[in-house]
Parts: sequence; C-alpha cells; structure tokens
Amino acid sequence: MRKKRILSGMRPTGKLHLGHYAGALENWVKLQEEYENYHLIADYHVLTTDLDTSRIYQDTVDMVIDWLAIGLDPQKVKIFRQSQVKEHSELFLIFSMLITANRLERNPSLKDQIRDLNIQQTVYGHLGYPVLQAADILLYKGEAVPVGEDQVPHVEITREIARKFNNQYGDVFPEPDPLLTVFARLAGLDGVAKMSKSLGNTILLSDNSEIVKQKMRKAVTDPQKLRKNDPGHPEVCVVFSYHKKFNPAEVEVIDTDCRSGALGCVDCKLNCSSKISTFLEPVLQKRSELENNLSLVLDVISEGEKAARLTAGATMQEVRTNMKMG
Ligand code: TRP
Repeated sequence: MRKKRILSGMRPTGKLHLGHYAGALENWVKLQEEYENYHLIADYHVLTTDLDTSRIYQDTVDMVIDWLAIGLDPQKVKIFRQSQVKEHSELFLIFSMLITANRLERNPSLKDQIRDLNIQQTVYGHLGYPVLQAADILLYKGEAVPVGEDQVPHVEITREIARKFNNQYGDVFPEPDPLLTVFARLAGLDGVAKMSKSLGNTILLSDNSEIVKQKMRKAVTDPQKLRKNDPGHPEVCVVFSYHKKFNPAEVEVIDTDCRSGALGCVDCKLNCSSKISTFLEPVLQKRSELENNLSLVLDVISEGEKAARLTAGATMQEVRTNMKMG
C-alpha cells in the first residue's frame, strides 16, 4: 500500500530544545516509519517577522543537526529548504489569488503574533504567511500535517485554498488533515507555560550534563515548599512535569515523597537532571559526530532538495496544465 505523505515544517531557529522535542520531534521520529515524510525548513517564513537573514544559514545547519541527532533518518525522510525550491514562490503567487485579504486578516495566529511580538505595522508577506504555508504543503500533496493546536487555523486555510483551486481548475490537490500532536507543551524552567528560546527558559538538546544540572538548579518549584521537608504540590512544579516526561517510572514515588516532605527539591532536581541527561546522551553523541562531519549534513539537505524539486516540479506542471498555462 502507498504510504501517506506528510509535510511538516519549522522555521530555522537554531539549536532546538526539549520543548521542540516534546511538541514535534518525538512525533516526527515516530511518524517516519509509517508515512512518507517531507520536512521543510521554512526559511522564507522567517522574513515575515525578521528581516535580518545573517543567521539563517547557521540556524538551519544547527536545526538540521538536531533533527538528525534526535533520530530523523535521512534514508526515510526528505529534508529541504523552502528557499531552494522555487516552486514554493510560484505556487504562493497563484494561491494568493484564491483567498481574500479579509479571510487572512481574521487568522487568529496572525493576531497572536502581532500581539506577542508587538508588531505595529503588518507587512503584506506576513498577512500572506498561511498562503505560503499552503503552497509548502500542497506542492508535495501533503495529506497530513503534524502540527500543534496553534497551527490548526493554517491547515484550515490550506484546505480552503485546495478546495478553491480544485473547483476552479480541476482536481490537483488533496485537502490535508491536521495530525494533532498530542501536544505535550513542555513548561519553561521559569515556570512559564511554554519553553521558548525568546524567553531563555530552555534546556537545549545540545546541553551537556553539567549545563543541564546548572539550569535545573534555577528551575522554579512549588513556592510553598521552602524547606526540604515541607510538603510540596507536584502539580504546580515544573520539575515534576519534566519527571513525567523523562522519568515516568518514578513519577508515583516522587509524587508521594514530595507531598509527604520526604523528598527535597535539591535531590529531586538532581534526579531529574540525571534522567534528562541520560535521555540526551545519545543525542549529544550523534550531534558531535555530525558536527565533525558537516559535509554529511549538507549532503542530506542537498539530496532532500533534489528530491523535493522533483516532486514540486511535477505538481507545478499539473497546476499549469490545469490552468491552461502549460
Ligand atoms: N508555520 C510553521 C511554524 O511557524 C512553519 C511552517 C511553514 C509549516 N510551512 C509549514 C508547518 C508547512 C507545517 C507545514 O511553526
């Protein structure tokens, strides 16, 4: 049976953290067995909110090293940059005609970004963010898109554009379904609901055990547990949430001992750091192999781009034929 095709994407943000792992990468690695996976590096999308391109290349390389180190297998998946497959721009242009400005202005993700980044004036390309994303997905006829909750409105816009195109010019595109990541949103070390680079509250996939320990020391725990033997409330503790993810075997004991006051935060944190470092050990190992063999990483990207161009080129040919612009 033909494998279903998945298109997933991420903006190149440099070295990734445990939040990326829990929210996306863990899922991607699992999905590569069952689906045909295309992983897009959304470098053009960066421009929607940041015109400084000086770090994009290094951020791309760092991100791809993390993707490979965590277990994406280049024999199974394709990894490529959006900017290196010109069909993205072409299809984006056509798709721009198939959706109203009004519809895009109502996009809730846009509103969130404008608020979070305190953007005063929205550029045209930012408004068109989901249109470019629709081109990303549909060029590869992606049938499923693994995303977190926040990206569901974008997949909905993609479906609308696919429908509009198919009605107007004849069937070319599938209507992709969001494949909701059982969205384990990992909290930040500072207790904020989301681990995020801009908040500086992350543990990186590339952090060694010493750094993990240091960062963990600062992690926010239950504010009512001031002394070691005070009874604690694991449900409000960030460290406990990490235990749940990376140390499931001991979660019950930790819960009991924290509540009774038998377990203090210092020991609990040391244990947690050590479990996270055990998890990260093979990732660090793989990472340093790749860093020492950068040409291998660049080959993966360039092979991915060759394959992506073939698929994207074939789709664009169909698009042009259907539009009688072939
Ligand atoms: N919008 C996604 C993000 O901000 C990145 C992205 C670009 C993407 N193109 C995509 C995600 C296509 C899924 C499919 O994280």
